[in-house]
Amino acid sequence: MAFYITTAIDYVNGAPHVGHAYEKIATDVIARHMRQRGGDVFFLTGADEHGEPVADAAAAEGIAPQELADRNTARFKALLPVLEISNDFYIRTTDDEHERRVQEVMQRIHDNGYTYKGLYEGWYCPRCADFKVENEILEGNLCPIHQIALTRESEENWFFKLSEFQTELEALYADHPSFVMPLARYNEALSFIQSGLQDVSLSRRHLKWGVTVPWDPDHVFYVWFDALLNYYTALGYARPGADLTELFWPATFHIIGKDILKFHTVFWPAMLMAAGLPIPEHVFVHGFLLGADGRKMSKSLGNVLDPFEVIDALGADALRFYLMREVQFGADGAVGPEAARARYEAELANEYGNLASRTVAMVRRYRDGVVPEVEVDPVLRGEFDRLVDDIIDLMDGAEVTAALDLVWQRVRRCNRYVEERAPWQLAKDDAAAHELNVVLATLTEAVRVISVLLSPYLPDATAKLLDALGSPVLSLDGAAFAPRGSGALLEPLEPLFPRR
Ligand code: MSP
Repeated sequence: MAFYITTAIDYVNGAPHVGHAYEKIATDVIARHMRQRGGDVFFLTGADEHGEPVADAAAAEGIAPQELADRNTARFKALLPVLEISNDFYIRTTDDEHERRVQEVMQRIHDNGYTYKGLYEGWYCPRCADFKVENEILEGNLCPIHQIALTRESEENWFFKLSEFQTELEALYADHPSFVMPLARYNEALSFIQSGLQDVSLSRRHLKWGVTVPWDPDHVFYVWFDALLNYYTALGYARPGADLTELFWPATFHIIGKDILKFHTVFWPAMLMAAGLPIPEHVFVHGFLLGADGRKMSKSLGNVLDPFEVIDALGADALRFYLMREVQFGADGAVGPEAARARYEAELANEYGNLASRTVAMVRRYRDGVVPEVEVDPVLRGEFDRLVDDIIDLMDGAEVTAALDLVWQRVRRCNRYVEERAPWQLAKDDAAAHELNVVLATLTEAVRVISVLLSPYLPDATAKLLDALGSPVLSLDGAAFAPRGSGALLEPLEPLFPRR
């Protein structure tokens, strides 16, 4: 089963922030889950280096755009191992191979008759690097996303005949109701299409920082055409000596934020249609992380969550867990450092960490570390019956928050089970030896299954725990609740989420 998943590629004109981290973490959780299912997974992320914002930022510093891109991309890329992101490749849109393939695909679109030269005049947002159509513009000629003044621009450039794809796009949406998820975003994209598509400019004449238009070398491609194609071009050169396009195209999932919906759900499929290429299966549109006060994060409001601060204080697993749990994936939500710490203490340390520590500690104390080979408690085991299937269904829809919640319900259930069965009481009574064996075997197996299911979210802590359980296998086949205790010898376990 080939599974190809991507994040948006980041603009490297600024510094990485928690929004960038968020999207990569969610995508990573899905990629890790798909690997657990035995999928042949390819996970792509990268940097969007061309375009006006980077050229402008470089000009402001008096350096060449490539120099700025090199420096900033290094910072974005360095974030990935810190966040425990398991991407298979990192694309930069200044890679020669990317540029060459952009030219090839765009040439095909040109040869197929979907371009023309014309005069473009319109309202332009320099932060979006995008011309806005009339029905998007806010009162006072403001950008609907950045709320800054739009500038009137006019230039001769090449156009893409987006309007010719109106019917085909409507058919795509009718035939593939899960092309855009969640449903509200599907409706938003469809109504944009139905409101009438205008052609879009695809080149820039006054800009040098971009991929040269092969049939008119005075122009470079408008950055979005270059950037969107990253998802396709990367497969051609990500693995030296191999072309992965056959295997992985079309992509299974593009994970993007709501501000770039139009590009991915309207322009992108139309470009692929114009080039005669297959369309990706799903675009999942997530929401925006807001400051703890519920307002847009901004340095001046002092409500920015710095991902590095959370990682320094609580670890990468804690940041991953917090972001996946706090904000329903797909919706907007407020995040802040106090809430991250609160979840660390209440859920990671007191619920999951404590369940793991006391389970291992009791097996070591009462049974010399050997998990009793007795039949597990059928009632508790029964409560895990449909769990893996339900998680698979949710993850097929990129529902990372809902899937995590299902596992967490079991964490809480197991803690209640410990309280109900009070193994420390059973240990005092020789006649209860068998019962204690059952409780310990059941808990150890439950903790193992839970940890396999949590491993996409908490790769570091779960690896330590599964090692201590002598059962490092991550595959979902291995997440079935075994009917009997394993007989394994448990290693001592350091606290997974120590007080910090
Ligand atoms: N370069 C374009 C994407 C091109 S994809 C072919 C871009 N870059 S970006 O750096 O501005 O954003 C990268 C991703 O981060 C986008 O999906 C965007 O929605 C997401 N986020 C940026 N800020 C965010 C939040 N505050 N919260 C959640 N995600 C946000 O757009």
